[in-house]
Amino acid sequence: MNVVDEVKQKLDIVDVLTPYVQLHPSGKNFKANCPFHSEKTASFFVFPEKQSWHCFGACGTGGDIFTFIMKKEGLDFGQALRLLAEKANVTLSYKSEKSNKEEQDRLDRLYKITEVAAEYFHYLLLHSSEAEKARIYTQKRGLSAKVIDDFQLGFAPNKWDELSSHLAKSDYRDEDMLAVGLVAPRDSGGHYDRFRNRLIFPLRDVKSRVIGFGARALDDSMPKYLNSPETLIFNKSSVVYGIDRAQAAIRQKDAAVITEGYMDTIAAHQFGYENTVACMGTAITEKQISILRRFSKNIIVALDADKAGLEATTRSIITINEQIPKDYWMPWTDPKTYDELVKHEVQVVEIKGGKDPDEIIRKSPEQWGKLLKESQPIIDFTLKKELATIDQNSPGDKSAFVSKFVPILAPIDDPVRCAHYIQKVAALLKMDYTGMHKDLFDLLNREKKGKTSRGNKVIRSYAVQAESSRPIEEYCLALLLQFPDIRPAGMKLSAEYFEHADNKDILFKWQENSDVDSIAASLDPAIHDCFDHLLAFGKQLPPSLGQSKREREYALNDCINRLQEIYVKKLIEHGIDEGPQLHDIFKKRGRISSRTKGV
Ligand code: UTP
Ligand code: MN
Repeated sequence: MNVVDEVKQKLDIVDVLTPYVQLHPSGKNFKANCPFHSEKTASFFVFPEKQSWHCFGACGTGGDIFTFIMKKEGLDFGQALRLLAEKANVTLSYKSEKSNKEEQDRLDRLYKITEVAAEYFHYLLLHSSEAEKARIYTQKRGLSAKVIDDFQLGFAPNKWDELSSHLAKSDYRDEDMLAVGLVAPRDSGGHYDRFRNRLIFPLRDVKSRVIGFGARALDDSMPKYLNSPETLIFNKSSVVYGIDRAQAAIRQKDAAVITEGYMDTIAAHQFGYENTVACMGTAITEKQISILRRFSKNIIVALDADKAGLEATTRSIITINEQIPKDYWMPWTDPKTYDELVKHEVQVVEIKGGKDPDEIIRKSPEQWGKLLKESQPIIDFTLKKELATIDQNSPGDKSAFVSKFVPILAPIDDPVRCAHYIQKVAALLKMDYTGMHKDLFDLLNREKKGKTSRGNKVIRSYAVQAESSRPIEEYCLALLLQFPDIRPAGMKLSAEYFEHADNKDILFKWQENSDVDSIAASLDPAIHDCFDHLLAFGKQLPPSLGQSKREREYALNDCINRLQEIYVKKLIEHGIDEGPQLHDIFKKRGRISSRTKGV
């Protein structure tokens, strides 16, 4: 555990805040007048369960003990940490400058050794007579002299001490060769070269330092690729092969293409697709995504045809979605903004006309460009693939499909996006949207809660609520909270139209109180996250609504009519005859839309 977590574990937020604010119990939580701005009603809340605080009033900020102390005492993070560590009796160990320097020197030596080894392997590939078969191999694979040079490909001869003798001559230490995995220890003492009779691919990090090697057999011997073991400087799950050469192009094209293999990436670069990298054949890791996102938010996955199955893509969706910033929140009614959102979603290339990108690119570079252009959002891609495998008229297949669909949607935090896909599947399978929506959300919630209690993934309490909430309810509340002048129209809204309990409650409180502070103060603190989210949503509504009262009134009326329509349809489904009422609603809606057409 790091010191920050240790300090958090040893201190309780209520004890830490008590000297600064007068806390009053409020259910499981505490409230107080906000210490950061002056106010009459208490809108500052402390949540012991989450060890967090939040002000729902004018400052609208929140955080943990560290952010509180930083704000209140005017300290930077390091100073706040020192203050709280002392309170928690946690000693902050500062490494002596000497040991820091020694560590740095050691790392410098390791990077130097790998660099020298890469140069030596490269020299051998180009010049040694023993490398003839490796040179023939590179020709057979179509590698140009330029990419061999750019990627500094090399050759390790079939000897036990070729590299180690070369390094020893320049006084490199055995312990350092061992530490970077270029040699392996012998049981009888001493060591031997790890890579023999292989084509060598130096692996570099973002700063272009050689961190390890991949080594391909020149024939069918196993393993096909031998990689460096995990070392002080090499961690396989964070390698993005080719990032040193791809970063400029990724920035420039504002997209990164991830392939599986070294050869795929090299072929892509050889034919001008320089924004390409490889993920080392395993599932794409969080670390790899976070490295790529430094250069572009747009990620295109080009997994081999055999791997682009449900499981691999689902895993990638989970990894990649966890990295999508939570700050895109778009009103559900605006298709333009939905497209915006999808643009930043991961795209998948369908591998057609070859077994991997290397094969396709070498057959036809233009075809590769075309496939890249045709890439689709990862979820659409997965849905399409899976739908193709079932009989869309078989109830059994349909039901199996829907349960497979849940883990794909589960990692999506945004209810709007979830609803979009449910709608799509419902239409494709000719199923009733409302019913399917409800069933799926029930399943989704179960899935998420299960995960939370097993502890593999901690879902923010709000996320659980959000998925079961309906976008249209949230849109409606966001409008009401953001624009007080449409209050009269909102007073007509019946809470029956809302399905989500928290939304219902917020609507009640909104109808009873006319300002945001008093609504916040009257709400159960457990739904403050939800409330806060609605306020934030309100701030992101299209600017046209802010400019015209007529627009806002129209948007609200449209919302109310839709809610009413869904509600009445449900009554009819349950055998309650509200036919005339529904007829009335349709008439009203028709009037509204024909009126706007004329504007
Ligand atoms: P592939 O087998 O698709 O490799 O594995 P490739 O790059 O297309 O190689 P060729 O075309 O057969 O020469 C994809 C990646 O998985 C990792 C490597 O990073 C490889 O590039 N891998 C594969 C290993 O680490 N070890 C192996 O034994 C196989
Ligand atoms: Mn290949």
